[in-house]
Amino acid sequence: ADALKIGVAGLGTVGASLVRILQERHEMLATTCGRPIELIAVAARDRTKDRGVDLSKAVWFEDAVALASEAEIDVFVELMGGAGDPAYSSVKAALERGIHVVTANKALLAKHGIELAGIAEEQGALLNYEAAVAGGIPVIKALRESLTGNTVSRVYGIMNGTCNYILTKMEKEGLTFKACLEEAQRLGYAEADPTFDIEGNDTAHKLSILTSLAFGTAIAADDIYLEGITNISIEDIQAAADLGYRIKLLGVAQRTDSGIEQRVHPTMVPHDSVIAQVDGVTNAVAVESDILGELLMVGPGAGGNATASAVLGDIADIAKSRPGAQHVPAFGRPTTALMPYKRARMQ
Ligand code: NDP
Ligand code: HSE
Repeated sequence: ADALKIGVAGLGTVGASLVRILQERHEMLATTCGRPIELIAVAARDRTKDRGVDLSKAVWFEDAVALASEAEIDVFVELMGGAGDPAYSSVKAALERGIHVVTANKALLAKHGIELAGIAEEQGALLNYEAAVAGGIPVIKALRESLTGNTVSRVYGIMNGTCNYILTKMEKEGLTFKACLEEAQRLGYAEADPTFDIEGNDTAHKLSILTSLAFGTAIAADDIYLEGITNISIEDIQAAADLGYRIKLLGVAQRTDSGIEQRVHPTMVPHDSVIAQVDGVTNAVAVESDILGELLMVGPGAGGNATASAVLGDIADIAKSRPGAQHVPAFGRPTTALMPYKRARMQ
């Protein structure tokens, strides 16, 4: 069968891991997917940087939008980050050409997800984004596919590896907030601007995506009640421990009589609960629904390999898909009202 030709924009923590895995597992992937996956084009900012992978067979693009608009590819993989350009324009340009897109960019989807999903649907392209929420945990697949027919009442969990890593290290090793954050950055867990992690915005971006999938709402990260972990001290963590609790940054979306409520804030969880045992960069997402009951997914939430694993799964799904097949839309059309929680609190 013809090779699946891909272009990757962004060769940082996730992009470089993806390229390495694609090269190391080329034969295995060709067998599993029924066709080889060939990396034919790449884009990043600095051409001189050593990324520890062989890029000699890929055409280098200075400009990610040019890659998305001009390269003869089947799939555009966006791993640059950010809600603005070049991420937005390049993803849009690829979809407008009917080229499938795989992205790990939750900031982009939180802002433009419904619009981009509409373009994808019009053009018969896939927009896959498993890695955008909870790293390697297949939570998007669970909500989009496995739970079809269920009515979801609540989605909640630990969705930011950096914050959970910081809270765990502060508690277990007594390290300062600053030292823990620097370590998370060194390990490749944090966003390019780590304020997004520690102020809770990244969790809000992810929660808004899950809310839309679980409840059929608009994606509205700006309407989420938001509190990060920057004010949590070692004393707070110890005081919670003395009372039999651990502090976790949770994202929660739940059905109420006045719409779907969404919030992100540090939460005291009982010491013996499963969520309290989730340590380090590990994430946990719980989904409560009427047919299945409670589903809890726990696994690696950030880092090059964990994230590249989810990106690779999305690419493999495209490699295996039949030409002309009907696709499940990336996001449904919003039908359910959100509770304007932020506004409600300010009244
Ligand atoms: P990095 O900061 O490590 O890498 C970003 C890459 O994008 C770099 O290669 C950079 O180029 C390139 N880039 C940035 N701006 C531009 C631009 N204007 N034009 C072309 N290339 C550009 O990020 P990550 O790999 O950590 O994250 C990538 C995406 O994956 C983000 O959306 C992030 O939120 C998401 N994600 C990350 C996870 C993680 O654990 N790291 C987990 C889940 C999702 P250069 O190298 O030349 O500077
Ligand atoms: N910065 C994010 C985190 C990356 O720490 O969870 C994964 O989305």
